[in-house]
Amino acid sequence: MKRRLRVNLQESRDAMDALEALITRASPRGLAEPAPDDAALRRMLAAAVAAPDHGRLRPWRFIAVRGDARHQLGEVLAQALRAREPAIPDILVAKEREKPLRAPLVLVAAAKLLAEHKIPTVEQIIASGAAAQNLMVAAHALGYGGFWRTGAPAYDARVKSALGLAESDQIVGFLYLGTPAGGPPTLDRPAPESCFVEWRGPAV
Ligand SMILES: Cc1cc2nc3c(=O)[nH]c(=O)nc-3n(C[C@H](O)[C@H](O)[C@H](O)COP(=O)(O)O)c2cc1C
Repeated sequence: MKRRLRVNLQESRDAMDALEALITRASPRGLAEPAPDDAALRRMLAAAVAAPDHGRLRPWRFIAVRGDARHQLGEVLAQALRAREPAIPDILVAKEREKPLRAPLVLVAAAKLLAEHKIPTVEQIIASGAAAQNLMVAAHALGYGGFWRTGAPAYDARVKSALGLAESDQIVGFLYLGTPAGGPPTLDRPAPESCFVEWRGPAV
């Protein structure tokens, strides 16, 4: 155990300081090649699986879509949109088809949900979301960028099935990953105090 910890710290040396990475992460304006390489991806996944996980259910899954498979995912998204909204103009379907091409790597972050379990499914989804966020921050710390999308496809049974997920599983995000492009992102952040209240006892 000790040895593993030492190795992990060693591997982390060239990454950004953790607090700086958390505070400076932002969605890039655009994404270009290169995608995180295999070594970077492995470290991002190591960050993901370090997320808090009630009951150690390991509910998170990350499905990588890259290269030509992105065109196939685009076709799945387009057909799912057409099925949801039969009267939708072709131009919007074409736009949907292009979405996976916005980044060299798309990681579909999902939660494999156990419905009849003492750990509520909402907590399984929270753990998977925490894993996804850990991965996004790790990507940023390593010099890559990513943006998180959901929308109707994340809840569409056709999309889940095409990705090998069960209808009962939850897609928590399409994580678009690559190298930041298009200039610095906007850092639009609320004041830290805005999320903070101090409780001094029950309201009377
Ligand atoms: C679960 C989840 C789903 C999201 N889905 C979308 C989405 O479908 N479309 C979108 O424009 N932003 C979506 N966002 C928000 C963006 O990823 C991003 O956080 C937001 O635009 C603020 O930019 P920032 O990442 O630079 O703070 C989602 C965020 C989360 C956590």
